[in-house]
Amino acid sequence: MNLATVLNSYSDEYWDFKDAKNDGIHSIANYPAPMVAPMQHELLSLLLKENTAYRKMLDPFHGSGITLVEGQSLGLEVLGIDINPYAHIISLAKLEKYDPKIIEVANHEIIQRIENLRKSNIAVLHAFDNIQKWFRDDVTDDLRIIRTAITMEPNSKTRRYFWLCFGEIVKRYSNTRTSTFKLHVKEAKKISEMENNVLSDFFEKIEETYKLIGYPRQGPFHLTCGNSIEIMKTYEQGSFDIICTSPPYGDNATTVTYGQFSVLQLLWIDNADFQYDSSCIDNFSKIDSMSLGGAHSTSNAFYYSPIISSYVSRLSSHKQTKIKRFYADYENAFRLMSRLLKPRGSMVLTLGNRTVDRLEFPFIDANKEIAQYYGLELIHVINRNIIKKRMPARVSRLSDGKPVDSMSKETVLLFRKGGC
Ligand SMILES: C[S@@+](CC[C@H](N)C(=O)[O-])C[C@H]1O[C@@H](n2cnc3c(N)ncnc32)[C@H](O)[C@@H]1O
Repeated sequence: MNLATVLNSYSDEYWDFKDAKNDGIHSIANYPAPMVAPMQHELLSLLLKENTAYRKMLDPFHGSGITLVEGQSLGLEVLGIDINPYAHIISLAKLEKYDPKIIEVANHEIIQRIENLRKSNIAVLHAFDNIQKWFRDDVTDDLRIIRTAITMEPNSKTRRYFWLCFGEIVKRYSNTRTSTFKLHVKEAKKISEMENNVLSDFFEKIEETYKLIGYPRQGPFHLTCGNSIEIMKTYEQGSFDIICTSPPYGDNATTVTYGQFSVLQLLWIDNADFQYDSSCIDNFSKIDSMSLGGAHSTSNAFYYSPIISSYVSRLSSHKQTKIKRFYADYENAFRLMSRLLKPRGSMVLTLGNRTVDRLEFPFIDANKEIAQYYGLELIHVINRNIIKKRMPARVSRLSDGKPVDSMSKETVLLFRKGGC
């Protein structure tokens, strides 16, 4: 039976994965807009059953690495790109092979080191602009102790695992609200009432995480932190059997601010242990403006989708510029993805339509149009409800604070290069 026939035998509700959880290795860190791990696993398994020669997969917008981990567990060689260093740090911790015995010893040693530093009141000074706005002084003191203790760990791979654990504690004890991905300071009362268990929570976090990173790994992996439009240019044409991703949906100032969600953690983590350009944390919104849908696109689209063209003409001029820039970036990324796919390779895109100027942005239909132009045949469409959504149903617009609906549905498009 071919894949389209198999997929047609499933109901759309099946793909809601109502009771599915991102547990195990996927629970080691928080990141916005996560994919549903069991769903990605099933989709990839179905692809691999139909195409037993598939070996290599790319996720050019990997986020917290859910699709990469699932692909790796199925024996695929996985390559991932993300512009956000925190997504890189999370995914690296999930994909790297760790020897549990080494981590067990390292956990024990760091706890001792932290106790000693605390008793002798020694920690390397660490500061950045507005640190007092985002962290209470006693929290900062404890975070400095942990940071110092991590830098004293001799093994760089073990340090990277500690940085991930530390990043989660930094976020938990920052003064930012948890109800939004954007940076907003909590009310003063809530900040002063926050109990300080920074050190004991870090100890708990490393013990929990250590149990989860024993995940059975199979295929090799390679991660790059940077702009996927530039990085995909460095790969050979026809390098991948599968491209499976959830790209950014557009204007990230009004949707998910991945950068703002991550910047406080990144201001504490030592970037010397990772390969990324640390200038991306020069200010709180730099990652978001460098991302697809940010304000600084300079590229032009090669193929201009008629659906986008007609949509843009109905928008205010300010929004027209933003959507045109996003589309230009996205079309560049799509063109590269379609080139990198092997003949008979599969592309799986998880997409959503958001609202701009109260008009639905027809991103899903535009993708179908662009795919057709680049020789990809649409094999199957899944429309699913996003059940375990962490975003509130209504989010506020950055410009005027007015409420806009956040997304509760998404669509998965499955394409095949050169026909099925
Ligand atoms: C929808 S999320 C991906 C969600 C992800 N599939 C997961 O499982 O969490 C989109 C990702 O694209 C990244 N991104 C945005 N612009 C990018 C660019 N130009 N190059 C690489 N990554 C980019 C964002 O940092 C974000 O992590």
